[in-house]
Amino acid sequence: MLGLGLLSLLLSVVTATVVLPRTTACNNSPDLCSKSYGEITHLGAHDSPFVRDASDDYTVAANQYYNTTIQLDAGVRLVTAQVHKDGSEWRLCHTSCDILDVGKLSTWLSEIKSWLDSNLNEVVTVLIVNSDDATASELNSEFETANIVNYTYTPSSSSAPDTWPTLEELISNGTRLMTFVASLDSSNNTAAPYLMDEFTYIWENNYDVTTPSNFSCEPNRPSSLNDKLSTALASNRLPFMNHFLYATTLLDLIEYPNSSYAPTTNAPSGGTGNLGDTATKCKEDWSGRQPSFILVDFFDQGPAIDTVDKLNNVTSPVGRLNISNLATTEQIDGDGTYANVYKGLVNLVSSVESGSDPSVGEWIWAGGDWGSILGGGISL
Ligand SMILES: *[C@@H]1O[C@H](CO)[C@@H](O)[C@H](O)[C@H]1NC(C)=O
Ligand SMILES: *[C@@H]1O[C@H](CO)[C@@H](O)[C@H](O)[C@H]1NC(C)=O
Ligand SMILES: *[C@@H]1O[C@H](CO)[C@@H](O)[C@H](O)[C@H]1NC(C)=O
Ligand SMILES: *[C@@H]1O[C@H](CO)[C@@H](O)[C@H](O)[C@H]1NC(C)=O
Ligand SMILES: *[C@@H]1O[C@H](CO)[C@@H](O)[C@H](O)[C@H]1NC(C)=O
Ligand SMILES: *[C@@H]1O[C@H](CO)[C@@H](O)[C@H](O)[C@H]1NC(C)=O
Ligand SMILES: *[C@@H]1O[C@H](CO)[C@@H](O)[C@H](O)[C@H]1NC(C)=O
Ligand SMILES: *[C@@H]1O[C@H](CO)[C@@H](O)[C@H](O)[C@H]1NC(C)=O
Repeated sequence: MLGLGLLSLLLSVVTATVVLPRTTACNNSPDLCSKSYGEITHLGAHDSPFVRDASDDYTVAANQYYNTTIQLDAGVRLVTAQVHKDGSEWRLCHTSCDILDVGKLSTWLSEIKSWLDSNLNEVVTVLIVNSDDATASELNSEFETANIVNYTYTPSSSSAPDTWPTLEELISNGTRLMTFVASLDSSNNTAAPYLMDEFTYIWENNYDVTTPSNFSCEPNRPSSLNDKLSTALASNRLPFMNHFLYATTLLDLIEYPNSSYAPTTNAPSGGTGNLGDTATKCKEDWSGRQPSFILVDFFDQGPAIDTVDKLNNVTSPVGRLNISNLATTEQIDGDGTYANVYKGLVNLVSSVESGSDPSVGEWIWAGGDWGSILGGGISL
């Protein structure tokens, strides 16, 4: 005889099974399966692996509060990172490996590979900022180490196509990883043709914005399309909307992510520079074309995904982590509590702003090589 308790437990298990959603979703919605890759909006996490957490003493140089896995769980479908050469290794460093170094490119790619392994209906885009001009074969070695090459999509054309495959097609072909590199000489890339030169396929608005009223829908890169909106739209390139705000310090020479304003920057409506109104305006300016990508800092703020869902007409997302139910990471802002090398820089900058005149030695101590500051500024 089954005890009543066990019987009702079994019944509740059966009931639970029956009510589970049975529809197949692509990128969190059944309605997106038949849409072309370029037609929908993908939410991007700017500098995805640069996370402000205990591992880097909550550095202000970081752009996100949650790691790449959590980003993907929560609906981010574009992840970007800067790749730098350090000794013989290709590493993910922020501006310089002396400021913030979060490990090897291949380790980060392995994290993405594991996520793809366990999320079979999802198409993910990686954008690599090729800061030290790695060749296609050098980047390919990192992809091979991560065992992720056979997830990659190889474009059918060496220029921007009229249409991209649908999510469904990418999923059924097993080519669920789209990889762009800024920049790579694709005319000469036989080593790894899945590595797409970003500005062959994509145009971007300005990314260097320090005032919320100054977000723009005009093309900025590639430089050949700067301020040439109709040419950019006619080129078939995918529109890529940068939407993050920098804070500036030291007479505007040093920029770092403005985290305190991120709840507004990423909001669906509200204050100056909010994501929802800006995206609506860009879509209007772009003759009704929605951005293919929206790249933000602190993606969980806003929340940015609300604007992306609205653009994609997604009202009931499936299988997505609700980030507001996750314990929040400690969010420490510019109050001098950093223990890493960046702390020294921030303190030094405050002292300069309040009138002191540090020696060259102090600059070197604070952050290593500041040649780029003397050359006109750095962006974090
Ligand atoms: C990502 O963050 C979550 C939550 O903090 C943690 O459990 C997980 O181990 C992290 N994953 C990686 C690959 O670092
Ligand atoms: C991708 O590569 C792995 C390891 O080499 C292999 O186990 C897997 O079957 C491959 N997948 C496809 C779709 O070829
Ligand atoms: C899917 O794979 C087949 C066989 O490799 C190829 O012919 C086709 O073009 C691929 N489709 C897409 C959308 O990539
Ligand atoms: C092609 O790339 C290789 C290195 O990947 C380089 O040595 C060669 O000069 C390049 N050729 C052209 C025509 O750009
Ligand atoms: C606004 O952007 C324009 C060009 O995009 C730039 O020249 C100008 O300095 C910016 N203004 C502010 C206040 O940031
Ligand atoms: C962030 O942006 C807001 C809005 O422009 C501004 O008031 C605030 O001072 C900025 N934060 C920093 C640290 O610059
Ligand atoms: C969402 O709906 C709008 C208005 O009907 C349409 O222009 C747009 O193409 C749709 N977007 C997607 C991804 O379905
Ligand atoms: C996410 O969780 C929060 C807090 O529990 C809730 O208010 C919100 O409605 C949830 N959002 C979605 C899309 O389920």
